[in-house]
Amino acid sequence: MEYSELLRDACRQLPVYLPGKPIELVARESGLDPAAIVKLASNENPLGMGAKAAAAARQAIAESGLYPDNSGYRLTQALSRVHGLDPSQFVLAAGSNEIFYRLCDLFVEPGCEVIFGAQAFISYRIATAIAGGTPVAVPMPGFTHDLEAMRAAITPRTRLIFLPNPNNPTGTALPRADVEAFARDLPGHVIFCYDEAYAEYQSAPADLRPHIAAGAKVVCTRTFSKIHGLAGWRIGYGYAGKELAALLNAVRPPFNTGNVAQAAALAALDDDAFVQESRRVNAAGQRQLQEGLAALGIEHIPSEANFILAAFPDAAAAAAALQARGVIVRPVANYGLPGHLRISVGTESQNSRFLDVLASILVSKKPPV
Ligand SMILES: Cc1ncc(COP(=O)(O)O)c(C=O)c1O
Repeated sequence: MEYSELLRDACRQLPVYLPGKPIELVARESGLDPAAIVKLASNENPLGMGAKAAAAARQAIAESGLYPDNSGYRLTQALSRVHGLDPSQFVLAAGSNEIFYRLCDLFVEPGCEVIFGAQAFISYRIATAIAGGTPVAVPMPGFTHDLEAMRAAITPRTRLIFLPNPNNPTGTALPRADVEAFARDLPGHVIFCYDEAYAEYQSAPADLRPHIAAGAKVVCTRTFSKIHGLAGWRIGYGYAGKELAALLNAVRPPFNTGNVAQAAALAALDDDAFVQESRRVNAAGQRQLQEGLAALGIEHIPSEANFILAAFPDAAAAAAALQARGVIVRPVANYGLPGHLRISVGTESQNSRFLDVLASILVSKKPPV
């Protein structure tokens, strides 16, 4: 018997997650020295991880022969202090991505609808598809989530709404008052997942903790992959009311977060100086990229995160030409944005390299006079 005959219907045609190309792979494909390649394709922290997290990770490696603490006791206690919530309100995950899948495990089956923006982070679409749910992709005029249209898309079959703020890949963010009002009046059969992967880069992020305290069906997700610089360790978390957190913990695979990841995350939470520095580097990099793109006549969408979506006459060709010269950026045609590229904010020298290579490509494309 073929696997195809055994598969659940939902898994026959799944949307694909296209990650940023790893430096090693590009080096192999292009024959370039890996050290000469700049990756601005996965919204990572260009500073890497902070010194405190690195030291804690090194120390935790000694314990790697043992299974980790399945409850993540110390990390959960620290999160409880940081957010002012009870430890039982948290769920740890192998990246916040995992929580989207666990939500679909719990609440989505064939016939259920899941609402998200048409150009919202693609994981929601994949998690919905695997669960056999019906995706309801709401148009995003001006590359921004349309909360009224999302509200209007709710039917009796709706189970989940995903909202990333700021959104990836557009970088756009909704004002906190709008998000807070949206979360307040959702019907009782709908669970709202508010994805805060880039919230630390925002000046005024929404705060849904009062809604959670008031009993709203809300889960907020956070990650250590972005401003904390721990993408490689795969660790994130969600916070919600106790009942929802317990449900999420019940469907979480045992030991889903490793001991080194937990230790590094715990230390990262205690490294405010590193977070501040990361925020400063990102703000400076945003300005550098925005000015550099404008000088080259390339339009971009204002971003509140650590990346920029920019419009290119031939985005696929531009991405290929950049990559051939050792700069990896992210095409976003799979988001229905074939005329754009997403560029993660790097260090000053990485941003300069990108802008220089881009300028050289644009010059070489100009017809001779
Ligand atoms: C909007 C958004 N949410 C969640 C994530 C997931 O991050 P992780 O699984 O690394 O925590 C990402 C990663 O790119 C993202 O862009």
